[in-house]
Amino acid sequence: MPLLLALITSCINAAGDDDPTFGFTEISLNQSNFVLQKPYDVPLDQRYSFIDGVHRMWVYADDKPHARGSNTQPRTEIHIAGLINFTIPLLLAPMIHRCSNAAAAADDPTDGFTEIPLNQSNLVLQKPYDVPLHQRYSFVGGVHRMWVYADDKPHHPTSPTQPRTEIRITGLDYSSGVWQFEGHGFVPNGTSGATVAQIHGGSHDATTLILRVYAPGEMRFYSYPRIADGLYDRWFRLNIIHDVDGGKVTVFLDGEQKFQFHDQGPGDLYFKCGVYAAHANISYYMESRWRDIKIYRKL
Ligand SMILES: *[C@@H]1O[C@H](CO)[C@@H](O)[C@H](O)[C@H]1NC(C)=O
Ligand SMILES: *[C@@H]1O[C@H](CO)[C@@H](O)[C@H](O)[C@H]1NC(C)=O
Ligand SMILES: *[C@@H]1O[C@H](CO)[C@@H](O)[C@H](O)[C@H]1NC(C)=O
Ligand SMILES: *[C@@H]1O[C@H](CO)[C@@H](O)[C@H](O)[C@H]1NC(C)=O
Ligand SMILES: *[C@@H]1O[C@H](CO)[C@@H](O)[C@H](O)[C@H]1NC(C)=O
Repeated sequence: MPLLLALITSCINAAGDDDPTFGFTEISLNQSNFVLQKPYDVPLDQRYSFIDGVHRMWVYADDKPHARGSNTQPRTEIHIAGLINFTIPLLLAPMIHRCSNAAAAADDPTDGFTEIPLNQSNLVLQKPYDVPLHQRYSFVGGVHRMWVYADDKPHHPTSPTQPRTEIRITGLDYSSGVWQFEGHGFVPNGTSGATVAQIHGGSHDATTLILRVYAPGEMRFYSYPRIADGLYDRWFRLNIIHDVDGGKVTVFLDGEQKFQFHDQGPGDLYFKCGVYAAHANISYYMESRWRDIKIYRKL
């Protein structure tokens, strides 16, 4: 039974490399799953060959479409067919579940990283310059609570930026290597248009990463795209890995990879969390809470 076999194999392979197919089950394909489309007026072998496992497809700009009467451009394409109603037999569902849970446990984003112990001097607060800290920040029971209002002043009298109350990780600026931020965050229902975490710096931009929360509880990369939802009123674990040498940033929520992108090149880089108002679609009141803030490095 090929499906069962595939499942077992994917469980065994679960050892923890981050192959994109990890946690997925291969569905065996046969020839009937490959349906070829080609210009309708020429035989298949004039637009397709299959030699040594290689499907070669070609087309000319003045070819006819794949069907008489179609007004689309010419194509020679493989249509993966017959998987519409593919369902996993019920019997196997619990096994797949166990398997993917094992995957989550095996693949913690901090695996292979070394924690760099932080002390109070590594957490520097920025807040509207004209109000005392305790009116925008509290630290109770290990939770850093930060809030800001849309009409607050910036963090510095001459700064043209939007209002913020943020923790800036200080003393651990980096410009090479592989670094990771971890924190448990909480955003109350209603906060919208607030950057809750960022990587500040980059070779040709002020920031490399901006993670904003918008109503109704979505997390977005800058204004777009959306990378998660359902974040209001619950604690979530955020991990951000910045591989400066590889030029890559990866964002995890609750241990699950949600987003990856090419960075802006090296610069004077550091992590921040808190609330920093966007320019549009912001709520009047913005708040986020953070606990267990940690910085890791791959040594
Ligand atoms: C090919 O796979 C499809 C499902 O994807 C299945 O319905 C069909 O029976 C298979 N045909 C052969 C010859 O194995
Ligand atoms: C797939 O399922 C839908 C709804 O259950 C049905 O209408 C459709 O005919 C099925 N398609 C195939 C290829 O079996
Ligand atoms: C806090 O950590 C920094 C390095 O990140 C170190 O330079 C400093 O001495 C530490 N301060 C205390 C009080 O341990
Ligand atoms: C947030 O608050 C709004 C308005 O009070 C409510 O309709 C919505 O269900 C709340 N969302 C969550 C996730 O609790
Ligand atoms: C603000 O929200 C509106 C409505 O959802 C959207 O069309 C617009 O693009 C948003 N503006 C920005 C700058 O995000």
